[in-house]
Amino acid sequence: MFIDKEKLLAAHQWRYATKKFDASKKIDEATWKTLEDTLVLTPSSYGLQPWKFLVVQNAEKRQELMQASWKQAQVVDCSHMVVMVIKEKLDEEHVEKYLHSMCETRGIERASLDGLKKVMAGDLLNGPRAAVIGEWASRQAYIALGNLMTNCALLGIDACPMEGINPQKYDEILGLSGTGWKTVVACPVGYRAHDDKYANMKKVRFSNSEVVKFIK
Ligand SMILES: Cc1cc2nc3c(=O)[nH]c(=O)nc-3n(C[C@H](O)[C@H](O)[C@H](O)COP(=O)(O)O)c2cc1C
Repeated sequence: MFIDKEKLLAAHQWRYATKKFDASKKIDEATWKTLEDTLVLTPSSYGLQPWKFLVVQNAEKRQELMQASWKQAQVVDCSHMVVMVIKEKLDEEHVEKYLHSMCETRGIERASLDGLKKVMAGDLLNGPRAAVIGEWASRQAYIALGNLMTNCALLGIDACPMEGINPQKYDEILGLSGTGWKTVVACPVGYRAHDDKYANMKKVRFSNSEVVKFIK
């Protein structure tokens, strides 16, 4: 069930922010399903999952998105164009939906979750974090982004995390404006082009000793 340390490290070394996808190579259905399942399994604060993952398959929309992405070609050349969107303002309806889902999944009474609801509401709906709830939701989406990139790498699939986008334009193109949902970040996934010169570039990272500190 678990992969060995060497393979894990090798997958992380192999992964890079893909600049050029091979537009002729598509992720097969079964592999995509695994990526999708692992994406949906991403953990979030309280488990509230304030997100949706849009997979843009429409070629015209992808062209439009590319224009709103500093013309980055990955948007049109990738196999699956994933856009992570968040619920801009977490509301009671969303919290209730989650609690009901928990009851159904675990066979518990809704009343037994009243305490949990109070804690969540006191923190996210009515507490100080309510004022920055969009930021909170965005952070959850970035966990999904990290998860997706790593899962791709473990399966030998390429990805490019993408903040070089115009989120407002994305919202317009994807019909999100005014819906309460908004674009946070994108992640085209697929297969690298054989001549993407970025694939073999050395990783630029600060040293472990600089960024990892043991507090003893
Ligand atoms: C949140 C985020 C946003 C990024 N946005 C872009 C982007 O819009 N276009 C791009 O080509 N690379 C983008 N990158 C890639 C980074 O530049 C890249 O991950 C970093 O330089 C490290 O290189 P590596 O991922 O190839 O190891 C982004 C990375 C992250 C994590």
